[in-house]
Amino acid sequence: MDINQLKKAAADEAAKFVEDGMMLGLGTGSTVFYLVEAVAKRVREENLHITTVSTSSRTAKQASDLGIKVIDINDAPPLDLTIDGADEIDEHFQGIKGGGAAHLLEKIVAINSKRNIWIVDQSKMVKTLGAFPLPLEVIPFGSEKVYQRLTAENLHPEFRLTEDGQRVRTHNKNFVIDLHVGTIEHPHILADWLDHQTGIVEHGLFLDLVNQVVIGKESGVEIINA
Ligand code: A5P
Repeated sequence: MDINQLKKAAADEAAKFVEDGMMLGLGTGSTVFYLVEAVAKRVREENLHITTVSTSSRTAKQASDLGIKVIDINDAPPLDLTIDGADEIDEHFQGIKGGGAAHLLEKIVAINSKRNIWIVDQSKMVKTLGAFPLPLEVIPFGSEKVYQRLTAENLHPEFRLTEDGQRVRTHNKNFVIDLHVGTIEHPHILADWLDHQTGIVEHGLFLDLVNQVVIGKESGVEIINA
């Protein structure tokens, strides 16, 4: 089956968790694209009254174009539920996010949400994190020094580049450095170290955050409580 069909199947299933009156967080990425379509369809057909906050301007535009109410997180009450994608999820339901460079906003929305659901195709489920390069959002000032520190720690950093060779800029005009570590045996230890490095605004390790994972598989959609 085409991977996009698996993403859509997971997104369609997760959209069923949305309830009338909810304050909903919307993630970012190609899987969330299908989610926003599915939620918009429910809003239209079932006349649901929901309000959303978004983790990127891409998602915000798609949602509001489809008639979903989007507000600023600063004006929002506590979020009932956030649904987002992920780049990798390990067997303990720890995740890597930030493949779309939106992990800072995604983490802010996630930690302000009572419940978090991740929607993925089966290829994202792994035993151990780390094959997917771990994204960091880094302040441009002093970023070469951060890069040197990461290199000295054997974390194999690489500035993320656009197709025309420019450094990728996040929503907040920061750089993205990806860590090519291969295997992350102890994600909490690495997260704690990264949390203490001045200049790194946020990293893509999302630990102990998700409540449910909705997986699009060849055999059907599986929902797992984390
Ligand atoms: C955005 O920065 C990411 O965290 C996405 O949520 C993640 O990359 C999943 O994206 P896809 O659904 O496109 O794989």
